[in-house]
Amino acid sequence: MTPDGIDPERIPVHVACVMDGNGRWAERRGLPRTDGHAAGEQALLDTVDGALELGTQWLTVYAFSTENWRRPADEVRYLMGFNESLLMRRRDELHAKGVRVRFIGRRDWRVPRRVLRRMDEAVELTRGNRRMTLTLAFNYGGRAEIIDAVRSMLAEGTSPDKITEKRLRKHLYAPDMPDPDVVVRTSGEYRISNFLLWELAYSELVFTDVLWPDFRREHLFEAVREFQHRDRRFGGVQARGTA
Ligand code: IPE
Ligand code: IPE
Ligand code: MG
Repeated sequence: MTPDGIDPERIPVHVACVMDGNGRWAERRGLPRTDGHAAGEQALLDTVDGALELGTQWLTVYAFSTENWRRPADEVRYLMGFNESLLMRRRDELHAKGVRVRFIGRRDWRVPRRVLRRMDEAVELTRGNRRMTLTLAFNYGGRAEIIDAVRSMLAEGTSPDKITEKRLRKHLYAPDMPDPDVVVRTSGEYRISNFLLWELAYSELVFTDVLWPDFRREHLFEAVREFQHRDRRFGGVQARGTA
């Protein structure tokens, strides 16, 4: 059954989340920042379950940005190891739920080989699942993605007049992924921080003060309710009656 106040006919196809506020969550408790990342795991799993409950087909989460390498070496090392172990510990459970795990981001830049191996294993294991696609944006930057797409077009010998929006899209990290209908950012920050720059041109943006480790499916449902009240026009005129 669809959660209260949500129209089952207008469930977003693709929800994306900027999982932010782990460090502050920990600092408020007098804990090391890394404890905040660890606590974020429960939030992610509950959000996945909430998205499955809603019937959202695509869920994308921002796990590590191309700028996050600027953090202290200890924290970066922790995040690499944490993501690696999370994939090992949770892949069977995600697989059992029918979740297809995928990644977007730069593969060939800085990510340790053993982390790439775990990523490949999770992708391989869950490749055939169709209930929902969970895309982890890891070593991901929206600008890097556009640059990589342009490089890939040039490498194919695309001539300038053949460079179109449609063609560029084919060179993004996940060309088959629909644009997000709604992007949720936690922790009271009102910015995009280089997430899905190309894809979110017409996404509805929802901001919440909840810190990521406290985020649960109910917060996801709240974001979807807010999304359903928005009037999406895509640059056209208001289509009353369909809204
Ligand atoms: C988000 O939490 C997780 C990552 C960016 C990897 P932060 O670590 O950014 O937490 P805050 O924003 O410092 O509270
Ligand atoms: C965005 O959060 C990146 C991830 C959630 C992985 P940041 O904490 O890195 O972004 P800023 O620094 O607040 O913009
Ligand atoms: Mg942050």
